[in-house]
Amino acid sequence: MTERRKILVTSALPYANGSIHLGHLVEYIQTDIWVRFQKLRGHDCTYVCADDAHGTAIMLKAEQLGISPEEQIARVKAEHERDFGDFLINFDNYHSTHGEENRVLSELIYSRLQANGHIASRMITQAFDPEKQLFLADRYIKGTCPKCKTEDQYGDNCEACGATYSPTELINPVSAISGATPIEKESEHFFFKLPEFTAFLQDWTRAGHLQDEVANKLAEWLDSGLQEWDISRDAPYFGFKIPGTEDKYFYVWLDAPIGYMASFKNLLDRRAAADASVDADALFAEYWGKDSSAELYHFIGKDIVNFHALFWPAMLSSADFRTPTKVCVHGFLTVNGKKMSKSRGTFINARTYLEHLNPEYLRYYFAAKLSGGVDDLDLNLEDFIQRVNSDLVGKVVNIASRTAKFIQKSGGTLSNSVADQALWQKFRDADSQIAANYEARDFGKAMREIMALADLANEYIAAQAPWSLAKQEGTEQQVLDVCSLGINMFRALVTYLKPVLPALAADAEQFLGESLDWRQPVTFRGGDAINKFKPLLTRIEADKVDAMLEASKEALAAPAPQASAATASDELAKDPIAAEISFDDFAKVDLRVALIAKAEHVEGADKLLRLTLDLGGETRNVFSGIKSAYQPQDLEGKLTVMVANLAPRKMKFGLSEGMVLAAGPGKKEIYLLEPHSGAKPGQRIM
Ligand code: MSP
Ligand code: ZN
Repeated sequence: MTERRKILVTSALPYANGSIHLGHLVEYIQTDIWVRFQKLRGHDCTYVCADDAHGTAIMLKAEQLGISPEEQIARVKAEHERDFGDFLINFDNYHSTHGEENRVLSELIYSRLQANGHIASRMITQAFDPEKQLFLADRYIKGTCPKCKTEDQYGDNCEACGATYSPTELINPVSAISGATPIEKESEHFFFKLPEFTAFLQDWTRAGHLQDEVANKLAEWLDSGLQEWDISRDAPYFGFKIPGTEDKYFYVWLDAPIGYMASFKNLLDRRAAADASVDADALFAEYWGKDSSAELYHFIGKDIVNFHALFWPAMLSSADFRTPTKVCVHGFLTVNGKKMSKSRGTFINARTYLEHLNPEYLRYYFAAKLSGGVDDLDLNLEDFIQRVNSDLVGKVVNIASRTAKFIQKSGGTLSNSVADQALWQKFRDADSQIAANYEARDFGKAMREIMALADLANEYIAAQAPWSLAKQEGTEQQVLDVCSLGINMFRALVTYLKPVLPALAADAEQFLGESLDWRQPVTFRGGDAINKFKPLLTRIEADKVDAMLEASKEALAAPAPQASAATASDELAKDPIAAEISFDDFAKVDLRVALIAKAEHVEGADKLLRLTLDLGGETRNVFSGIKSAYQPQDLEGKLTVMVANLAPRKMKFGLSEGMVLAAGPGKKEIYLLEPHSGAKPGQRIM
């Protein structure tokens, strides 16, 4: 056995303003499998995580719910921990970035950056909400796209035409928080002087810490020149105040990665409190000190690479800490080949999944699809059902269920003789290759190797057919030998699968009466007793998957708690009546009865449906943002009301020639207007 490695592993810290969904789980399941693998191999591996508790979004969310940010982050943390626990994610510590350890470490690191001359300060001008008295990040400003003139677009890009711009270019910009018109306001900001780390980062990103495709992407950024990084935010902000200032806070992304250190520190302090022989400070230095011999692995999604592979190593190096051994980047989850979607029911929360399906199904499926690369990963639900049923139930569990009963019949004790040495040798020899694939995070390859062994085991059992042998005279020993090999092959497979399927492994250990260990290659076990076999895993039923999709639609369509209490007049209060217009203005609007001749999805559009409207002879092509509320087939043949004389608008997906009328708060609750029965397409509404 190789020496015992000391490894500290992290997953990215989920934001404390939303629920864990299956996309997140790609990361936490993947990290957990890797950590369990290292532990099973006998290494000293520690897995820490935390909620990412700071920032404007969390502050606003708490305000919206009428609770304090502290209350909000406590609620979400409890929910996250329960979800992760039920998916068998085995953190050694789960903390919060809003803790004392993180404050102390953030201040320490900042003071070192400052002492090294790596912090600059200057005045900048930003959009400011005069009503909320709040500086507005780009995503909190909405307005009309300067390019295509589509209304209600966010401050940095247009969903209709794809243009990117700065919020100052928006036509009629408004604060998405209060609706007020933003003003420009100056304030002093602090910057981390990232450009000074260009040479350091050019080396570091090519020194084996990153996947090649990630290093290549970063090289593009490095070549085009790094910018100073704005690390301060003005009050009001939920975060840590910057020492020496009255009203400046660390930007959430400054203290978030420091949260990895803080969670580890919290773990050490708790261990030291329970055991006087633990020296927390010495251990902290051993893992985070400049000369650390421990390994540090960060698992992250591809959207947050710049924070982990540029800012973070630069900060650590300036602050005299070690840098990561590896930053392991994964892609994004799609469901049935498409981005997760609320209207399709494929935006599935962890809890919704758990209410319908066994977490180990998903753990296995993700393992089978992960390759250690940054490609996106698809959860194809038909393939999911098929693969789990065929591999886990049909192959692995089947080996035990077909052989265990014959061992019981002959007294419950395994044979000492290996019925087929060559076959058993294959199970032992596969060990190092499977381990190498786990180490490289190519879990998909490991799963394929394991299933190839399972095929060999099943072929062997089918060929030996212990069930027919047992009917013949004088074959007791042969049946016992064959089935004992069967059970041993099952032991090897479950050992190799234990990082992925910890609960199934625990049940199998119960049945086998032993704890499966992978510090050495698996040895043949004979001469002692096993217990009665109980079914280990049932098949996935397709209707459970359908029910989960249905529930995901419902969960997201349900109105938020405070909205459910809203009355019609509250709705009006939130959406005040617009300024008065003259009758002449009104008379210009030509409203017509329109027949929806055709309704279809628009490739690549999240919100739009394409409608072909019949105005009694003339047809119009109209894009309408009603996809969250309607299935196209339910609309065809229905009558509605349209603005027939609206100037055509060029959108990303084509020309829109008019507009249909609808009411409602949004999402599932959008109601297309319908004329009285008897109305005819093309009739003018007066
Ligand atoms: N709070 C930051 C991370 C701070 S780390 C110091 C954050 N939080 S997050 O909740 O948005 O995402 C947490 C992790 O989940 C990230 O690594 C992110 O890439 C990953 N994923 C979120 N949605 C995902 C998918 N749909 N698919 C795969 N991973 C995704 O970012
Ligand atoms: Zn546009």
